[in-house]
Amino acid sequence: MAQQDQLDKKTLPKHLAIIMDGNGRWAKQQGLLRALGHENGTKSVRVVVEACAELNIPFLTLYAFSTENWNRPKREVELLMKLLVSSLKKEIKTLQDNEIKLTAIGNLDTLPKKVYKELLEVIDKTKDNTNMTLTLALSYGSREELVKTVKEISLKVKNNLISRDAIDESVINNHLYTRNLPDVDLLIRTSGEQRISNFLLWQLAYAELYFTDTLWPDFTKTHLFEALLNYQNRERRFGKTSEQLKR
Ligand code: FPP
Repeated sequence: MAQQDQLDKKTLPKHLAIIMDGNGRWAKQQGLLRALGHENGTKSVRVVVEACAELNIPFLTLYAFSTENWNRPKREVELLMKLLVSSLKKEIKTLQDNEIKLTAIGNLDTLPKKVYKELLEVIDKTKDNTNMTLTLALSYGSREELVKTVKEISLKVKNNLISRDAIDESVINNHLYTRNLPDVDLLIRTSGEQRISNFLLWQLAYAELYFTDTLWPDFTKTHLFEALLNYQNRERRFGKTSEQLKR
């Protein structure tokens, strides 16, 4: 049976998040410049986005640029920004053809004007699409998001817009960049690293974690299906016992 047919369409993750890692190592392995690793990484982005849309996974979130990535050499940062603009320009048709709505999370104000403008344009053009929400984490860091959230809520408390006692998990959720997204069900990280790296710390509370040695530019549909099959063979208990789940 084909791998895709082995998947149970009813128990696919609602929200899949991916840390796309290993572009640099892939380039090194091939004797190429890091830039070509990132360029080839964009090919995997397209393959995975289309496959998720085909499978009707409603939310896909990709870690495209972290707050820490600003510390990379200036030329690499510029290249990643350039790639983002060109990918956005090039892929708008893919997004429209697959009815994909683009959104972004992160400290977007810190992005170069050109990137910010292109991003807002594509977000606006795709805002009525309903098949899947593709979220790019850009200049995103979970701790920065949490600090911002605490500041916003405490200001509301100070201005008597909300009482301290009314602060609960849903209030916090509603102040995160991810306020319109459900919790993550499955996190995939490529390239053999087994870390979360400041990505969606709150939102991953009950996520299943899947690590693969495959480098991001080598990540294909087959690897995605493998991860999804692995996810479907796990029992998600959310703190309950196995017996409770069977009732
Ligand atoms: C990690 O590889 C990857 C990144 C920092 C950026 C991810 C960006 C892309 C896949 C391309 C652009 C994205 C979109 C959404 C069009 P690394 O450089 O950390 O690899 P290494 O750990 O092997 O050095």
